[in-house]
Amino acid sequence: MFTPALYYRYWDVHNISLDLLIIPLIQAFWVMLPAYLPNPVAALLGGGTPIDFGRNFRDGRRIFGDGKTWRGLFTGILAGILVGLLLMWAAGQFPGVPLPVQTLLSVTLLATGALLGDLVKSFFKRRFDKERGANWPVADQYDLVAGAFLLLLVFDPVWLLGAVTLPVLVVILVITPVLHRATNIVGYMFRIKEVPW
Ligand code: CTP
Ligand code: MG
Repeated sequence: MFTPALYYRYWDVHNISLDLLIIPLIQAFWVMLPAYLPNPVAALLGGGTPIDFGRNFRDGRRIFGDGKTWRGLFTGILAGILVGLLLMWAAGQFPGVPLPVQTLLSVTLLATGALLGDLVKSFFKRRFDKERGANWPVADQYDLVAGAFLLLLVFDPVWLLGAVTLPVLVVILVITPVLHRATNIVGYMFRIKEVPW
């Protein structure tokens, strides 16, 4: 029998399960936006002098390669910090939603860590003799998460553990490769990137 009481119970359960998904999803974006933005901005605005100034490592291959430039590094980090400042301002606009509280330190570490992770990944890519832009699954997708979380772990571990709860971590690990792939396809379509990965 479909009694009103049962009907309400169905919606209670339904809403709880929806909250379990949507709230960590919003929290994950809130945490990761300052780390997600630097890469596409570097791809858009980067270029010019390479970070390694064109020099080779002792194995005779480039240290980082032409895909890592000073302009990309600085504009990317700046963009990540700016979107972080925007989140700090916007947080006050959603009273009642349990959002992680971004600080100047957390957004700086997220943005810087994202591109340092990308840089370290390129260092190892060159050591494995992979050309600039070569596809390197897993490393290409999670470099920014590893870099950002490592910097936070060293310089602001209390913030990291408070903001990145287990459900938020799971969501980040699921959405990061999806977003990475999606933005790279868009970047390729608009000819910002030479390859769709
Ligand atoms: N970029 C940059 N400076 C950075 C990071 C990125 O200028 N610090 C720009 C480069 O034009 C680069 C593009 O963003 O080609 C895409 O970045 P990414 O995919 O990380 O570099 P790849 O060219 O794929 O090089 P790699 O093989 O070293 O990852
Ligand atoms: Mg690449």
